[in-house]
Amino acid sequence: MKCSLLIAGLMSLAVAAQAEILRIKLVQKVGIPIVDAFDSLVSHASSDDSAQVPLSHQQLRYPSGHHTPMNGYYRQIATIELGYPPQSFRVSLDLSSGNSYVVSSECIQLACMAARTYNASASTTNHRDGRTFTLPGSPQGMISEDTLYIGGIEVRHQEFGEALSFFAIGPGLFGFDGSLGLAYDDHRPGSSVTGRTSLVNNLMRNREVDEPIFTLYLGSTRPNGPTGELTIGGLDHRRFSGALTWHKTVERGQWVVPLVGAAFQYGDRMGQILFDRSETRAMVDPDYLYIHLANQAAYSINYRLGATRGNKEEYYHRPCEGVEELEPVAMTVHRTHYWFTPQEYFMKSGDGVTCISIFQQIASTTDEERVARGYDAVLGAVFLRKYYSAYDYGSHLVGFGLAT
Ligand SMILES: *[C@@H]1O[C@H](CO)[C@@H](O)[C@H](O)[C@H]1NC(C)=O
Repeated sequence: MKCSLLIAGLMSLAVAAQAEILRIKLVQKVGIPIVDAFDSLVSHASSDDSAQVPLSHQQLRYPSGHHTPMNGYYRQIATIELGYPPQSFRVSLDLSSGNSYVVSSECIQLACMAARTYNASASTTNHRDGRTFTLPGSPQGMISEDTLYIGGIEVRHQEFGEALSFFAIGPGLFGFDGSLGLAYDDHRPGSSVTGRTSLVNNLMRNREVDEPIFTLYLGSTRPNGPTGELTIGGLDHRRFSGALTWHKTVERGQWVVPLVGAAFQYGDRMGQILFDRSETRAMVDPDYLYIHLANQAAYSINYRLGATRGNKEEYYHRPCEGVEELEPVAMTVHRTHYWFTPQEYFMKSGDGVTCISIFQQIASTTDEERVARGYDAVLGAVFLRKYYSAYDYGSHLVGFGLAT
């Protein structure tokens, strides 16, 4: 009897010591630019069940003449629960900050409509100490502490923001309820709503996970293809083939890597475009759909691919005819080439004859804006769908490998 108790005790120790990798399912959402009809936003957001369907191929074939989501309307959504009894929320991953928040049930703004709201008084484990937060632009509110459930584990005393007001449109209209900050928590003012207690920091401190790593797998756009997954605490080796190549981040505190140029494969020869120094800091961010480059870099690549952008047009595009005869193109991060075939770097628009390039110009262009932003380019969802990505807080590295 004693003996079996001892064995049971040892076994539970062994389980506790094992590296824990949290796996969190992701759902992708495509928002519609604000310039589009307001009621289409509302119907998009309120049809909750359809919003749970992973992004299908059909949604990528934008109707011609329509705006494709350029900035900030493409989201990876995870589900978390907060409080006791648990309240469930859809949070959008945020790789550009360490801030996490959900909409508060005390928000009375129109901007908070359509979101599921966090009711602090309905949770017996909530704690507030009167601190408030304001994020640049949007939103603002109170700092709260409660139990958070993610990927099957319970994280006690997690700080997060309870949003009371938004500058413009709140997340509910885009089909989610808040944000989960996954950038470094680097103690700079404004870098985190919750000071030093971002979710990943909390997981590390409580030794809930072994490695200070999270990874992103965006899944497939094919109907019934694999769905996306976020892991925290280690790599998911089922999601990529071969090894990951690791790149040092350009600056501590942001997931920004050196994008030095583009490569073109002509038969067995390779040509290269090297970007200017001012074009080479690329943020890794699945909130963007495309690969967004500084003006000159976007122009040079598209020029070689026969894609142009008229004066009043937002996107580089070309006729689809002949696209399949084009050469593979790579984005060169540090010294590694990440290749794309013509079928991958041109997307057919709804009319079937126009092909939209995945190499697009980044929205803003002035030097001040770039400096304020800290990056010149973005490796968006099209890049991260092909390449599985891993983010190492401990060594300030971003790794990429071919997604399976
Ligand atoms: C929040 O929960 C409390 C306690 O259950 C309840 O009385 C109150 O009506 C709720 N508030 C909202 C806005 O749902």
